[in-house]
Amino acid sequence: MPDLKFGSVSLKHGLMLAPMAGVTDTSFRILCRRAGAEYTVSEMVSAKALCFEQKMKKAGAVRTAPLATVTCQEAPMAVQLFGSDPAFMREAAILLESGAYLGASSELPPAAIDINMGCPVAKVVGNGEGSALMKSPETAAAIVRAIKDAIHLPVTVKIRAGWDEHSKNAPELAKRLEDAGADLITVHGRTRQQFYAPYSDNRVIAAVKRAVRIPVVGNGDLFTAADVKRMREETGCDGVMIARGAMGNPFLFAEIIAMDEGLSYTPPTDEERLELAMVHAADMVARKGERVGLAEARKHMLWYCKGLRGASTAREALTHAESLAAIRAVFDELLERNQWES
Ligand SMILES: Cc1cc2nc3c(=O)[nH]c(=O)nc-3n(C[C@H](O)[C@H](O)[C@H](O)COP(=O)(O)O)c2cc1C
Repeated sequence: MPDLKFGSVSLKHGLMLAPMAGVTDTSFRILCRRAGAEYTVSEMVSAKALCFEQKMKKAGAVRTAPLATVTCQEAPMAVQLFGSDPAFMREAAILLESGAYLGASSELPPAAIDINMGCPVAKVVGNGEGSALMKSPETAAAIVRAIKDAIHLPVTVKIRAGWDEHSKNAPELAKRLEDAGADLITVHGRTRQQFYAPYSDNRVIAAVKRAVRIPVVGNGDLFTAADVKRMREETGCDGVMIARGAMGNPFLFAEIIAMDEGLSYTPPTDEERLELAMVHAADMVARKGERVGLAEARKHMLWYCKGLRGASTAREALTHAESLAAIRAVFDELLERNQWES
């Protein structure tokens, strides 16, 4: 079992929740933290947007800063920045470290600043940001150096295997980022061209681990505790970062901790799973208001129902649920059906 240390962060199981834009908001991060995730990361935050909106000095106009809110319940938590201009990245990191920015009600500073060098989305890549930085190692290193020189917080970087099959440069890039001052590297074992298919390659994570001395966190296709065990064995990684495996299943973190501690693990019952879904939806509504909270909670609710009999009928009903009570009614029906048919 790894003991992952960087900056003032120390994680007994090296167990992290990955950043997922539109998914890992405050509500979800807190839920995963309670379930056993030892570390969380914000959704990706545009460095440029953060800097620009602060210059407007109008709290009402602030949209990006709330994404960088850090609460005690989800700490230690990193804020992830994306961008390609070292000066903006530096300015944004200084803002985040100081906490002196409008629009976020952070209870404490981030545990680290994470830099996104993995996002495959065309709009992001088209600006030379996200995984496009893997094609510009010089700029990538300049960003790390600029941030590292300006703040005291650890600087971590999340990369992919490379841009495409012909340029799997993760080990060389990781070495360069380490030389520029990076404190930790997370590697998603797919290239940009692979987006999320067909599979994540543990060999490239192992190669990064061999190339650097700083901690390496493995990411990609971790859906069960057995997947985590295999990744640790195949790569020697110091920590693991879980993304899609936690969607509708924050219990995965508890399962991994049970494995590490040699304890038996009892999966949640259907009732427990849907009870957690209700807690999740209620927290989203409390934080974002009923209209936005419910709209954003729906996809999570569908993920919690996955695998239950009648989930496709429930999917339709959940899409139209206009209140927490309506979601509860759909779940009650689903549970009844599963009880009778089991
Ligand atoms: C909906 C979604 C949103 C994501 N958003 C981000 C993001 O904001 N920043 C980032 O570095 N990676 C992001 N990712 C990538 C994940 O962090 C992770 O690297 C990837 O999903 C592979 O891990 P997995 O196989 O455990 O899902 C996102 C992935 C998904 C599915």
